[in-house]
Amino acid sequence: MYGEIKIAPSILSANFMRMGEDIAMIERSGADIVHVDVMDGHFVPNLTMGVPFVKDLNAIAKLPVDVHLMISNPLEELPWFIKVGAWSITVHYEAFEDPAAEIPQAIGMIHEAGIRACVSLKPDTPVEVLRPFIADLDMVLMMSVYPGFSGQSYIEGTEDRVAEVVALARELSCEVDIQVDGGIKESTVERVARAGADIFVMGSACFTADDPAQAMATVKKLARAAADGAL
Ligand code: DX5
Ligand code: ZN
Repeated sequence: MYGEIKIAPSILSANFMRMGEDIAMIERSGADIVHVDVMDGHFVPNLTMGVPFVKDLNAIAKLPVDVHLMISNPLEELPWFIKVGAWSITVHYEAFEDPAAEIPQAIGMIHEAGIRACVSLKPDTPVEVLRPFIADLDMVLMMSVYPGFSGQSYIEGTEDRVAEVVALARELSCEVDIQVDGGIKESTVERVARAGADIFVMGSACFTADDPAQAMATVKKLARAAADGAL
């Protein structure tokens, strides 16, 4: 919420056969964070990478690794992901059977390992569900598409949901980073930055750009200006 603007390329849009080179490319092109989308083919229809991939990613990445878990059984799987490490781990609110009891448990497990804890909401989950634990989070991830695939269009109105997160955090006198994920590019970033998002995931808009460094720099500049204008 109106903090430093950071760009987090999602390597789901990288070339899996050239992953090391693509990660090196984003690192020298001005990325701030590496975003990795873990999908289990159950919580979301797509199946991507798992623990061994995240382990090797941590070993080669110079940037902070941001693990976005789109899996059905986060409490069971978290110990594996925590063991291989990350800068930040995100779990989905909708993945828990009993969020009131289980989300504090998940946050505790992640924090105990010295990792930043984040909860993500799908586009139709009310922001109000964050109230009981937002003060314990380092970051909230607002999905601006339905999770599962890169290359989808930004869902209009996500900016209003970001504003609701800011309002809730202010009401409870807490500070939290707000990340947006899905369809973020030059034409969509300003409205979410104005609303208070500060970490921007870029999948296709980064990896399909002729010049990824320029694409990231432009999005970052637009976001900074929009956030500054809102303050
Ligand atoms: C979608 C993933 C995103 C995705 C973003 O479920 O969480 O991180 O890769 O890709 P773009 O930026 O192309 O929407
Ligand atoms: Zn993601």
